[in-house]
Amino acid sequence: APPRKKLSLPQLMSPAAPLVMVTAYDHAQARHAEGAGVDLILVGDSLGNVVLGYDSTAQVTLADMLHHARAVRRGAPQTFMVVDLPFGTYQLGTEEALRAAVQLVQEAGADAVKLEGAAPNDLACVRRISAAGIPVMGHVGLLPQTATAQGGLKVQGKDEASARRTLEGAAALQEAGAFSVVLEAIPAALAALITERIQIPTIGIGAGVECDGQVLVYHDILGVYEGPVMKMVRRYAEVGQISREALSRYAAEVRERSFPAEANSFGMTDGVLEKLY
Ligand code: KIV
Ligand code: NA
Repeated sequence: APPRKKLSLPQLMSPAAPLVMVTAYDHAQARHAEGAGVDLILVGDSLGNVVLGYDSTAQVTLADMLHHARAVRRGAPQTFMVVDLPFGTYQLGTEEALRAAVQLVQEAGADAVKLEGAAPNDLACVRRISAAGIPVMGHVGLLPQTATAQGGLKVQGKDEASARRTLEGAAALQEAGAFSVVLEAIPAALAALITERIQIPTIGIGAGVECDGQVLVYHDILGVYEGPVMKMVRRYAEVGQISREALSRYAAEVRERSFPAEANSFGMTDGVLEKLY
């Protein structure tokens, strides 16, 4: 499908069909996502896990996000790009959060930023950044940046207190000015209730089919990593296997001198070689 024109904020806020969001972290991935016609690209701080090999998204820095978001922007100039505010850029207060958001807009071309949680400071940051004219996406449910405090990477909103906190958090993010909210790893029925209760679009990951949109991590969709996959993921390809098989064939052909072939090699102007002997 030919790439569409970048969707406007009003279009994203009243989608005709479920919103499609995928993460991307570099130029080639961004080109693939734009070529596939996704509605939004998320430069997620999952960058830390799937690209940089960190243990936790809490190790990702603003410099990391800027570096990768710039590459994504160049690869997908016509796709609405949301960039995660990494841990530490909004915990110290609203001014520092706004400064980080401005940097992501000015230096990387972000169309919007995303931050995790709905605690008083998180809401204040959403209010400050959106009031400055930068659209903010919220994120409730499982919050990877502070997963330790949530007792690990676990499904949220199963009991009444947690479900109520998640529902009220999503509503408070809307009230603070968020244009959309990610619902991560919560029961499908709770996600459906939240989607019914708030006006801004909900984008689910492990949150059932009733959300206004879905998001998945690029590497998960493509099966870049072999091995077991989380329940909330569906793998659409086995790129890890394809990659390993291709690299093994390359290695074998180099070792047996069947690569490069003549077709991969450059010839010389007639008669020149004789002069060198
Ligand atoms: O960083 C990320 O990939 C995310 C999505 C899973 C929502 O925040
Ligand atoms: Na993230």
